[in-house]
Amino acid sequence: AVTRTFSIIKPDATRRNLTGAVTKMLEDAGLRVVASKRIQMTREQAEGFYAVHKERPFFGELVEFMISGPVVVQVLEGEDAVKRNRDVMGATNPADADEGTIRKTYAESIEANSVHGSDSDENAKIEIDFFFNEDELVG
Ligand code: CMP
Repeated sequence: AVTRTFSIIKPDATRRNLTGAVTKMLEDAGLRVVASKRIQMTREQAEGFYAVHKERPFFGELVEFMISGPVVVQVLEGEDAVKRNRDVMGATNPADADEGTIRKTYAESIEANSVHGSDSDENAKIEIDFFFNEDELVG
């Protein structure tokens, strides 16, 4: 089925001017950008977005990293979008990511790993709603 997922191009990638290169890899994987905006996340937004990780030892660093520069938040649409996006992103740790994936190609570290993508349809809806209003999604 055609579904939607949520993506973030993270500060390590925007800093290196890779917004277009990352988006091209997403598009070449069969995903369509139906919403996109470049934002500076606030600390409150980053803490809220990553609330599920708040007990993890890396939570503080993760929040600092995500507010260290602009990010591009996107809604992606395509056949089986969550899985399609996860496949093209590659493993969280670029050292474990397959050749040809975004993280293998561009990520600097497990933290500065260039992209985020939703891990389920349920979380995709929650994450899309966190950053976008329905009228901002244009298929
Ligand atoms: P993301 O998909 O955005 O979801 C949580 C993020 O936490 C993850 O990508 C990584 O950027 C980061 N992360 C996960 N594990 C670690 C770790 N062990 N150390 C630092 N950051 C991590």
